[in-house]
Amino acid sequence: MSQPETYNYKVVRQFAIMTVIWGIVGMLVGVWIAAEMAWPALNMDIPWLTFSRLRPLHTNAVIFAFGGCALFSTSYYVVQRTCHVRLFGDKLAAFTFWGWQLVILAAAISFPLGITQSKEYAELEWPIDILITLVWVSYAIVFFGTIVKRRVSHIYVANWFFGAFILTIAVLHVFNNLVIPVSWTKSYSIYAGVQDAMVQWWYGHNAVGFFLTAGFLGIMYYFIPKQAERPVYSYRLSVVHFWALAFTYIWAGPHHLHYTALPDWTQSLGMVFSLILLAPSWGGMINGIMTLSGAWQKLRTDPILKFLIVSVSFYGMSTFEGPMMSIKTVNALSHYTDWTIGHVHSGALGWVGMISIGAMYFLIPRLFGRQIYSVKLIETHFWIATIGIVLYISSMWIAGVMQGLMWRAVNADGTSLALSLSRHSFPRPRRRIEERPWQADMKK
Ligand code: HEM
Ligand code: HEM
Repeated sequence: MSQPETYNYKVVRQFAIMTVIWGIVGMLVGVWIAAEMAWPALNMDIPWLTFSRLRPLHTNAVIFAFGGCALFSTSYYVVQRTCHVRLFGDKLAAFTFWGWQLVILAAAISFPLGITQSKEYAELEWPIDILITLVWVSYAIVFFGTIVKRRVSHIYVANWFFGAFILTIAVLHVFNNLVIPVSWTKSYSIYAGVQDAMVQWWYGHNAVGFFLTAGFLGIMYYFIPKQAERPVYSYRLSVVHFWALAFTYIWAGPHHLHYTALPDWTQSLGMVFSLILLAPSWGGMINGIMTLSGAWQKLRTDPILKFLIVSVSFYGMSTFEGPMMSIKTVNALSHYTDWTIGHVHSGALGWVGMISIGAMYFLIPRLFGRQIYSVKLIETHFWIATIGIVLYISSMWIAGVMQGLMWRAVNADGTSLALSLSRHSFPRPRRRIEERPWQADMKK
């Protein structure tokens, strides 16, 4: 390439490569921790490898490293292509790449060492949070700077979703991470008790809503029409979808705190907004899938389109399941069970994972000026991934419902049936405790 590129593809390429690498690493850690649950001895009695330390490594690696790099890469590509202008600030864009990789490296070191704020999806300690803020502000400047200097008057709907994701994550990250540091590796939240829980799940739920959803909807609105070579089914619906989703998501956080010390009316409010959320979510899903009208036959032969469309179907499934789980009486069964894990992975693996993989198969050949190495392999990849995810989530549903029912089952005297059964069927753990008197307190 002797001519300088019109667009800044260098940073898009860098993020695309790291999406693939972090995807493999993050999911391998997922497989490892799943195996640790079946065979606890796999932690080899090494504190760095315990489930409790590797679990946040998995969640952060898949959400922020794999998902984050996919979002950086696609948003930088889409904003340039749809605004017909080069990315604003080459150096700042390069800083977002290296800064984000440094954040990931810091996470990969600090989690196994047990350094954590103990807030789910916001485990990183305060010095790393400051680095995230710097990277994120730079990201916002690069993205919105590009929008400002665009050569077309229109702002394509995918950019609205990317923009909302960038702005909302900035606000959520800053407010949920307001802490008082006591050392370089330890800090305490400025919020106390139930307020802390409320802020945490306002953050946590909107991390799902804006990091794992809005940004990926931006991907959907650009890559499905491109790959299908069809216009978006309804542009008007996409605008309604955008505003309805942005308005509704922000209220739904309390469904993570049902039956807790949070005031009851707050829980009910969260539940009602979660139920309303079904409408904009399905509006978006229908818009994505119906973009294929007139081109359905392409699904037979194009495995990249299969990845993109099946991901949107998982999106539809998980956004139907979520509102159901937010109903308090349903949540009384599903909470504390593997059902939640099934729901998480139908959204995070089925939707986020598959759409990112589809987008990467679209992008990488174009970014590097190459042909796909083997379309057949993509087809095989598609089927292995789809069958694997379906087996994963359906087994978690069955396990989850069983666990929920077992929590509820009681003997005539009101004691837990599950506990008494486990005493009869699994006497070994008790014997082991007796062999280890220093663990006698576990008997209580
Ligand atoms: C090969 C793929 C994957 C495997 C085997 C896997 C496995 C696991 C396991 C074993 C857990 C812990 C469950 C528990 O504590 O009972 C977990 C949690 C989690 N995983 Fe994955 N995972 C995979 C892919 C992903 C992807 C791609 C994402 C996101 C984009 C993701 C997001 C999460 C989240 C958010 C949690 C925490 C759920 C919660 O706290 O309720 N996972 N995963
Ligand atoms: C309309 C949309 C959705 C609603 C109303 C919803 C609702 C819920 C509910 C009620 C829970 C269980 C909370 C609990 O018992 O602790 C939950 C958990 C979760 N959902 Fe969703 N969900 C939606 C969509 C999604 C999507 C699309 C994803 C992923 C891309 C997702 C990711 C998660 C995660 C990661 C958790 C586990 C949080 C944790 O405890 O660590 N959700 N969701």
